Amino acid sequence: MPTRQSLLARLGLRHPVVLAPMAGEPATPGLVAAVSSAGGLGSLGAAYLTPERIGEACAAIRAGTNGTFAVNLFAPPPEPLPAADPAMLQAYRDTLCNLHEQAGLADPPPAETPEPPCFYDQLEAALAGGAPVMSFTFGLPDASVMERLKAAGVFTIATATTVAEARAAEAAGFDAVTAQGFEAGGHRGGFTGPRAEGDLVGTLALVPQVVDAVDIPVIAAGGIGDGRGVAAALVLGAEAAALGTAFLRAAECPLNEASKAALEKAADDATTLTSAFSGRQARGLRNAVTETYAEADAAGRIPPYPVPNGLTKPLRTHAARMGNASWNSVWSGQAASLARAEPAAAIVERVAAEAARLLGRG
Ligand SMILES: Cc1cc2nc3c(=O)[nH]c(=O)nc-3n(C[C@H](O)[C@H](O)[C@H](O)COP(=O)(O)O)c2cc1C
Repeated sequence: MPTRQSLLARLGLRHPVVLAPMAGEPATPGLVAAVSSAGGLGSLGAAYLTPERIGEACAAIRAGTNGTFAVNLFAPPPEPLPAADPAMLQAYRDTLCNLHEQAGLADPPPAETPEPPCFYDQLEAALAGGAPVMSFTFGLPDASVMERLKAAGVFTIATATTVAEARAAEAAGFDAVTAQGFEAGGHRGGFTGPRAEGDLVGTLALVPQVVDAVDIPVIAAGGIGDGRGVAAALVLGAEAAALGTAFLRAAECPLNEASKAALEKAADDATTLTSAFSGRQARGLRNAVTETYAEADAAGRIPPYPVPNGLTKPLRTHAARMGNASWNSVWSGQAASLARAEPAAAIVERVAAEAARLLGRG
């Protein structure tokens, strides 16, 4: 049987390090280009960007690096999302009004939340922008999208939180899969089964089982904070490790200072899974908002994504402006304390060199 090309060879990477896609403040061309120039795979978390901004970001990344980069989007759900139950929505809003008051925000939450950008327009913008790699979370795009990506010669990466999801990604024609363990910061990428977002398999258990189940390259993600984690991921059979939280304090990451300071102080048990901010389960630092909604969250009484995401935006913006991370969604994995405030290239080189040394390849 012919052996397939390694992920690193196919993507022209010097290091088995991926800047995990992170939508929101970290999604800037400077951070992506710095990681790609350092020989890793920079990923732009473009899900919240308009098509125009995606086009501009791709142009800025290409101006900043000759390295390979990825654009990441939220795959649209196969069925339309359910409308929020009116009583649940009202209770959620009432609590949010109290939080506004406590945070000293005079305006109430918005009456309506804006429609998220259209996935298909975002996709076309990324293709027109020359993205050589595209990755997806929250599901698998449909067959027509896969055909479009193949025809454009784009390398595709899916996100899986279980073996079943990784198998589905391979069957759908993906070129690689990111195995996202429950330690991971940010939103859970899960999309199958009745508890899609609640399948909490840890990275150490998930990666080797996914490696055994699929023939496409596997990228490990979740709680990997330094070269020891990267080495472990490679030993488990992954061909690269995706680090998110480890880059949040990077010099090029424009995350607000209050969140960076909170991450600097975060202990191993400082995070929680919460749907309070967006309506989808995500891991972030425990704070006033996650604690206030904890009971409703446990009871399944948070309206579904994306309504809360729109409703909490003014509070999150206010928190960043006030320099108070208690009211913000500070997405973080369980290894935040391993993150260093260094230039992104130094992070890539440090973790790659440490992994190579530990594996006897340095
Ligand atoms: C701030 C933040 C935003 C994220 N946004 C996205 C996203 O837009 N798309 C995505 O596929 N994953 C997203 N994730 C998940 C990461 O891609 C990755 O799975 C995770 O960061 C890995 O765990 P770690 O943070 O412990 O390194 C996000 C994670 C963080 C911390």
